[in-house]
Amino acid sequence: MSNCMTEGGLDATVSAIRKIHEKRGKTGSAAPGYYVQTFGCQQNEADSERLAGLCRMMGYRRVDTPDEADLILVNTCAVREHAEKKALSIIGTYKHIREKNPDLLIGVGGCMVTQKHRADKLKMSYPYVSFTFDTGAIHRLPSLVHNALTSGARQFVISDEYGITEGIPLDRTAKHMAWLSVMYGCNNFCSYCIVPYVRGRERSRKPEDILEEARMLIADGAKDITLLGQNVNSYDGCGMDIAELMHRICALDGDFQLRFMTSHPKDASDRLIEAMATEEKIVGHFHLPVQSGSDPILKAMNRKYTAEQYLEKIEKLKKAVPDVSITSDIIVGFPGETEEDFEATMDMLRAVRYDMIFSFIYSPRTGTPAASMPNPVPHEVSTARFERMLALQNGISDERLSRFVGRKMRVLVEGVSKTDSGMLTGRAAPIRPIHFAGDTSLIGEFADVEITGTSAFSIEAKLI
Ligand code: 5AD
Ligand code: SF4
Repeated sequence: MSNCMTEGGLDATVSAIRKIHEKRGKTGSAAPGYYVQTFGCQQNEADSERLAGLCRMMGYRRVDTPDEADLILVNTCAVREHAEKKALSIIGTYKHIREKNPDLLIGVGGCMVTQKHRADKLKMSYPYVSFTFDTGAIHRLPSLVHNALTSGARQFVISDEYGITEGIPLDRTAKHMAWLSVMYGCNNFCSYCIVPYVRGRERSRKPEDILEEARMLIADGAKDITLLGQNVNSYDGCGMDIAELMHRICALDGDFQLRFMTSHPKDASDRLIEAMATEEKIVGHFHLPVQSGSDPILKAMNRKYTAEQYLEKIEKLKKAVPDVSITSDIIVGFPGETEEDFEATMDMLRAVRYDMIFSFIYSPRTGTPAASMPNPVPHEVSTARFERMLALQNGISDERLSRFVGRKMRVLVEGVSKTDSGMLTGRAAPIRPIHFAGDTSLIGEFADVEITGTSAFSIEAKLI
């Protein structure tokens, strides 16, 4: 299963689909439309770029709304119940589009439908869904579409094929920003997390395949590349670790910056920290989820480190990369979390002084050990703790952000600001968007700015 695109079967299927479109007169500007709706993490964003690439290969053209589409793909997330509910509700709205266009195909992929109970629900209660496919079956999209176009039969695939599929074309959404998956899956089995069950065991891509893709992305205009993996720092490419891989990517010609996510604290090695400290191209941002600051909760979560061990890593990181921006994921209301446990998490925020946190109220996931743990925390208690934590973190974030005021910084200009169409938005190591006045010709380029002020959601700057 290592390189499906070289197998004749896929190319033959793609040609057969193109012929069907031709016979129906759907080519050129009348080519059928595809629309991909993505939920969840950056890995899903990256997978959706591959789904889009496959759609293009099959002769579909990208459209801006689901109403214009002949093929709608929904790439789902399962990490919390809220994400699943959102996906199901969007899929529900596609019923009306299908009523207007009986030829419309609706395919649902990703983590949610890799769980049998969810695939079954779609089969039973969403009759207008044409097919579902699991996270390991992205390369099967052409055969699913072909079967749907030729037989009309509904298909529900849980393949359990957790391999590495090289060579699927990309249809990237932002020219100057790129995702680059280096490894897939997770072996950690944190007790609350569904990921190991829906993304399989850890497997790393070969360094030469990654370097080749990096070269291709740089040539294609990518200036901000994020290395992706559920547990990116346990990358093992035929003996090469993530630090060495990053050194090799940084050595490639081109003006670009490099990021990586997500890292597990137990695998945040000295070598990775040293790579951050020495390579100019690596952005000074480390996302190192702690999840909780309480040792008994960390143990129940199966996180394999103590609060003290985590803080030791943070100290090392701060020493090696003094201006580093550190961010974290935190779960509030894990089963059995006492007031004392929660206060330990608050102490962790005070000790680390994160630039930003992503905080979540615990959501039980069917099939995970935590889902059957005793002493659930009542929702109102979790919500109150969540609010207290945000209030504390907002103060810390503001204080951390203020260190940038007056500094000169190189930013990658991403586009026009969403909140003020007269301004541009850029990205640098600080994790909030940087707004400044400038010409739209700068979009996709690096620009030098001076930070003039900060607000709750952004940083203000002026072009130098
Ligand atoms: N409930 C709440 N948050 C969760 N996460 C993962 N599983 C759950 C869950 N069951 C959070 C973790 C992880 C982030 C991506 O989502 O904080 O780091
Ligand atoms: Fe989930 Fe833990 Fe793996 Fe992250 S490291 S994907 S939280 S099991």
